[in-house]
Amino acid sequence: MHADTVGAVPGRGVWYDIGCGPGLIPGIASERGFDATGFDINPESIALAKKLYPKARFSHKYLEAVLATPDEKPNVISMSSLLFVLPEKAEALNGAWKLLREGGHLVIIETTGTMNLRNVVEYSIKQGSFSFALCLWGFARSGRTVEGVITEWARKKNYVAVQNHLGGMVRGWVIRK
Ligand SMILES: C[S@@+](CC[C@H](N)C(=O)[O-])C[C@H]1O[C@@H](n2cnc3c(N)ncnc32)[C@H](O)[C@@H]1O
Repeated sequence: MHADTVGAVPGRGVWYDIGCGPGLIPGIASERGFDATGFDINPESIALAKKLYPKARFSHKYLEAVLATPDEKPNVISMSSLLFVLPEKAEALNGAWKLLREGGHLVIIETTGTMNLRNVVEYSIKQGSFSFALCLWGFARSGRTVEGVITEWARKKNYVAVQNHLGGMVRGWVIRK
């Protein structure tokens, strides 16, 4: 899922993943030749990410700090399951857009309005495989999507790719500046 969306980003260069958790996206991006750094407020996630993905860089830093003190203009900024937890979603999107290099790409991955426990169970039955973590995700996100905020914010922007994952319960947006 994350690998497909990362794979839809053209070019190479500097990649910032904000709210990286245990580092999956910087890990994939660095394997694909990007100079990737993951940022997160949780020091334990950063420590784990450093162990799991030694090719990428990781830093214990808040979104607000990353956006306020740009060391460089990245070619790619990604936020996966971050907007959902932020109080000021449009502000975060605007800040990331401002920091992004002209011609660069913004990557967002979030659950859609169809993510709920019932759909996860139906999807799992169809796939013939069951994941407790996916059920928990469906339960936690039921009726709580930021899909509308993203669609509205990106209305007049250039989409490079909009990918549906897990039967449409998760979406990846790749938007060119
Ligand atoms: C739901 S997790 C997503 C982790 C990862 N991006 C993924 O897709 O698996 C959200 C992450 O955002 C981090 N986070 C929350 N608020 C943040 C902020 N203001 N700045 C940076 N990271 C933040 C949390 O510590 C957590 O690791």
